[in-house]
Amino acid sequence: MATRSRRLSVPVTELEHSAFCTTEDDLPSKPLAEEMVVNVRWQQIPSDYLHYTAEELDIRIGAARKKLGNSVTILGHHYQREEVIKYADFQGDSFLLSREAGSRPEADYIIFCGVHFMAETACILAADHQRVILPNITAGCSMADMAPMEDVDDAWADLEEVMGTGGIVPITYMNSIAGIKALCGRNGGTVCTSSNAKPVLEWAFEQGDRVLFLPDQHLGRNTALEMGIQLDEMVVWNPFRQLGGSTAEQLRKAKMILWQGHCSVHTRFTVGQINAARALHPDINIVVHPECPMETVQAADMVGSTEYIREMVNSAPSGSKWGVGTEVSLVNRLAINNPDKTVFCLDPVTCPCSTMYRIHPAYLLWMLDGLLEGKVNNEITVPDDVKRDSKTALERMLSLR
Ligand code: 13P
Ligand code: SF4
Repeated sequence: MATRSRRLSVPVTELEHSAFCTTEDDLPSKPLAEEMVVNVRWQQIPSDYLHYTAEELDIRIGAARKKLGNSVTILGHHYQREEVIKYADFQGDSFLLSREAGSRPEADYIIFCGVHFMAETACILAADHQRVILPNITAGCSMADMAPMEDVDDAWADLEEVMGTGGIVPITYMNSIAGIKALCGRNGGTVCTSSNAKPVLEWAFEQGDRVLFLPDQHLGRNTALEMGIQLDEMVVWNPFRQLGGSTAEQLRKAKMILWQGHCSVHTRFTVGQINAARALHPDINIVVHPECPMETVQAADMVGSTEYIREMVNSAPSGSKWGVGTEVSLVNRLAINNPDKTVFCLDPVTCPCSTMYRIHPAYLLWMLDGLLEGKVNNEITVPDDVKRDSKTALERMLSLR
C-alpha cells in the first residue's frame, strides 16, 4: 500500500486565507508598502514600486502597456482587483482563459493576472515561443495546494492496486498543479472547469465505471448529484489516512472518489446567509459557484462558474436583486456595472481570495517595466514530460465542447 499515515498538514495558503478579510465593503488598492503589513508571503520587488499610489501606478502601467504593444497579451481572471483587471486584453473564467491562452500566438509574452495553476495551464497550451509570466510568484491557490503530487501519486498507486489498471478514470479540476493534469493525461482521464464539469463527468463515465475527482470535493459532489449519482455512491479520499480512510470494498463500490480538498473562499458561503438574504429581500435571486458546499448549492436558485454568474447578473432585468456566492472582487464589479440592480455578496465579511488579491498593480507594473528592459521576471515553466501529458489531458477537455 502506497499511502502512509501522513502527519496532518495544512497548506500555508489556507492559513493565509483570511488575511485580507475586512468588514468594509470595498477594497481600494493602497500603495504596496501599506498592503504589505498584511501578514502573508509577498514577493519582494524593487523598493521604487512599493510607494506608488494607485493613480501613479495606473498612469505608469498605461504608458508601459502602450509601448509594449502587441508583443504582450494580458489575461485576467474575474477575481482580479479592479486596478488590475482593467488592463486585461481578455477576462474570463478558467475555461475561457485556458482557451484564450492557446489562441494568441502573436504575443511573445502572456502576463497572467490570476493564480499559479492558471499561468501553468497557459504555459502548457501556449505556443513554444511564448513565455508566460505570473506577476506575483506567491499567488498560488489553497485548493491546489491540498493535492500535492506525492500524495496524489500514492493515492493513484493504491487505487490501481485495489481496482486494477484501467479500473478508474482520473479527472482533475483545472485548479490543480500541472503534474496532476499530466497523471490524468497518461491514464485516460482529463481536466474539467466549473463551466464544463458535468459534460466532462458524463464523458468519464462513458470511459469507465468509477472516477477519481481531484482536488475539489465540493465541485465533484455537486456535479455528481446533478447527474443523479447518490451520496452513498461517493467516498471522500483523505490523503492523511491509509487507503484514503475507506476499505478496499468501499472503494470498489464507489462511483465517485472525491479528493478531500476545498476552496477557502467558497466554503464560507452558508445556507444561513441565503436564508438571511431571502428574509431581507423575498424576491431575491441567489446564484452561487459550484465550489460551495452541497447544502449551499442546494439552497441556491442557480449555480455556475464565474462567467455564468457574470452573464446571469449582467443580463438580468433592471430592478432585479442578486445575492451572490462567489469571490467578492467579482461581486463588487457586478454591483458597480449594474447600478440599476441590487447585487451583493452573501458573505457579510469581505474576504477576497488571498492569493488572487496578491496581484497588486505594482507587480503588474514591475512585469511590464521588466519587459521594456528586456527582462522576463517570474516566468512560469513546466517540464517537457509534464507538459506533454498535461497537454493531452487539456486537449481532451477542449475537444469535448
Ligand atoms: P471559474 O472562473 O472557472 O469559475 O473558477 C473559479 C475559481 O475559483 C478559480 O480559482
Ligand atoms: Fe483557489 Fe478558491 Fe482562490 Fe479560486 S478562489 S484561486 S479555488 S482559493
